[in-house]
Amino acid sequence: MADIETLGTDVLSAIAAVEDLGTLDEIRIAELGKKGRISGLMKQLGGMTPDQRQEMGPRLNALKTEVSKAIERRKMALEEAALDARLANERTDLSLPPLPEPVGALHPVMQVFEELAAIFGDMGFSVAEGPDIEDDWHNFTALNFPEGHPARETHDTFFFHPQLGDTPKVLRTHTSPVQIRTMMAQTPPIRIIAPGRVYRNDWDATHTPMFHQIEGLVIEKGVHMGHLKGCLIDFVKAFFEIDDVEARFRPHFFPFTEPSAEMDVKFTRKGDSIQVGSGDSWMEILGSGMVHPNVLRNCGIDPNEYQGFAFGLGVDRLAMLKYGMPDLRPYFEADAVWTRHYGFKPWTTPSVSGGLSE
Ligand code: PHE
Repeated sequence: MADIETLGTDVLSAIAAVEDLGTLDEIRIAELGKKGRISGLMKQLGGMTPDQRQEMGPRLNALKTEVSKAIERRKMALEEAALDARLANERTDLSLPPLPEPVGALHPVMQVFEELAAIFGDMGFSVAEGPDIEDDWHNFTALNFPEGHPARETHDTFFFHPQLGDTPKVLRTHTSPVQIRTMMAQTPPIRIIAPGRVYRNDWDATHTPMFHQIEGLVIEKGVHMGHLKGCLIDFVKAFFEIDDVEARFRPHFFPFTEPSAEMDVKFTRKGDSIQVGSGDSWMEILGSGMVHPNVLRNCGIDPNEYQGFAFGLGVDRLAMLKYGMPDLRPYFEADAVWTRHYGFKPWTTPSVSGGLSE
């Protein structure tokens, strides 16, 4: 028992020298645990004479307290050091030079979608969406394509296998079903554009089985053909970033608009590139018309109260015209060299006032 002091000094210096929490805990168990050295000495108190106990009791208790405090202090110090080390390790040096230029680029079609959203957003349109897999009703019937009408055939539709005797689902052949979905879900006034993928069974230099369209729909009281023309002419000027455009509206047929018109714009060919706005040839750029009363009725809108116009255009060709890509097929080949050449910086959002295609 005389060596309590030596024992104390040894244990305390061992604790001070410990460098990790695991070893520290081993010391705690070896000294203060149930079978520990100091606990063992405490147990011997029971077999001592009252005098011895009176002398040894306080000394042992003091030792026990001192050792447990030393362990506690060392534990806190080690934990703090571990936290400091972790923080130092996880520190980000914000003064480091930036990462190299990203190699990815925004696909021209996505860029044009952004530009269209900016232009029409400026005119008060919001963006609507619908599914790529459509039912016959939204893609055709509600749009006033009569059952068995040949117009259904002209779309080269991809049909799904029918399920449980239902009419087969289709891959939407145009974005016009989003007109129906929007009119069913909202009450007029309505002003939406609907960008998206569409599908037709076609494959050559100017047609791919999947391509992109943007639909426009306006339903308001008193809307007429003049609004349609003004809106689309403004759109062409904004999109091609030109002050004037020579345009004409040529009668056409779509089941869901009456009257219907295709819009042509004048253009000039300059070497390999095409300049839109003026020139000696006409180019068709979109389909449009006043929403057919049957379509309004199919969506629960009274054609005597509300009128509207709609338009639809091919976005891939629009991108080709603006950015001079000669062939449609590389659009969908995911060739990084092509994308880097024709692509756009992903972080610059087009805006009408701030510039569409900087
Ligand atoms: N949906 C038509 C097409 O794909 C385009 C269109 C949309 C025409 C809206 C008129 C109105 O050819």
